[in-house]
Amino acid sequence: MSTAQSYITEITRAQEAERKRIACELHDETIQDLFTVITDIEEIITGNDRLSAEDTRRLRCLQSTINHVMGGIRRFCSELRPGLLDSLGLLPSLELLVEEMNSDEELDCRLEITGCQRRLPSEIELVLFRISQEALRNVRKYAVATEVIIGVDFGNRKVILNISDNGCGFAPDATLENYVHGGKLGLLGMRDRVYMVSGSFSVESEAGKGTKITAVIPIPSN
Ligand SMILES: Nc1ncnc2c1ncn2[C@@H]1O[C@H](COP(=O)(O)OP(=O)(O)O)[C@@H](O)[C@H]1O
Ligand SMILES: [Mg+2]
Repeated sequence: MSTAQSYITEITRAQEAERKRIACELHDETIQDLFTVITDIEEIITGNDRLSAEDTRRLRCLQSTINHVMGGIRRFCSELRPGLLDSLGLLPSLELLVEEMNSDEELDCRLEITGCQRRLPSEIELVLFRISQEALRNVRKYAVATEVIIGVDFGNRKVILNISDNGCGFAPDATLENYVHGGKLGLLGMRDRVYMVSGSFSVESEAGKGTKITAVIPIPSN
């Protein structure tokens, strides 16, 4: 691994550790505190028969606003670092991404699993998840697609991830480094993450013909 690549690897690991810490803090502290506020308001409402109907309505309104804020924080946590990824692994986390994509009615997003489906080393699962997350973000931002397929093929010694859309496509710059100047770090970040786990990465795209992202990652034999 070159010095630059090991530097990127260390920065990426530190960034992931920080995201995990923030997600845990928000999940275990902030959401818990907000829940206590909702319960306290409930006690005020039920334990006070002198409250006017208007006061009760306003307190109920406050509870539902806090509930809404909690929902937003939960979604943010799951984007930062889905708890599912650590507990149940890659596939349930990808299913969640697919579900979110499908909330856009114009878009049909599917997950296709082949091979012997199983848990992989956590670093590999995280790489595959982050690539899918960014690739789907790009589909939403740029592709104007009606169909996206996420394919995961579990081989004995390698796992292959494909994300293909039928959108507008683009002419990928052969040197992904060139995107850095425009502050575009998505494709480059995907590639660098794949390199961290000794895999290979490609972007195939052409105007009018959609886009296909492929990552091939070797699975270490214990
Ligand atoms: N699925 C896609 N469909 C169409 N264009 C895409 C797609 N993915 C990436 N692109 C193009 O590649 C560029 C680089 O993507 P990326 O590195 O993720 O940067 P960013 O998302 O910050 O623009 C995008 O600006 C866009 O022009
Ligand atoms: Mg992007």
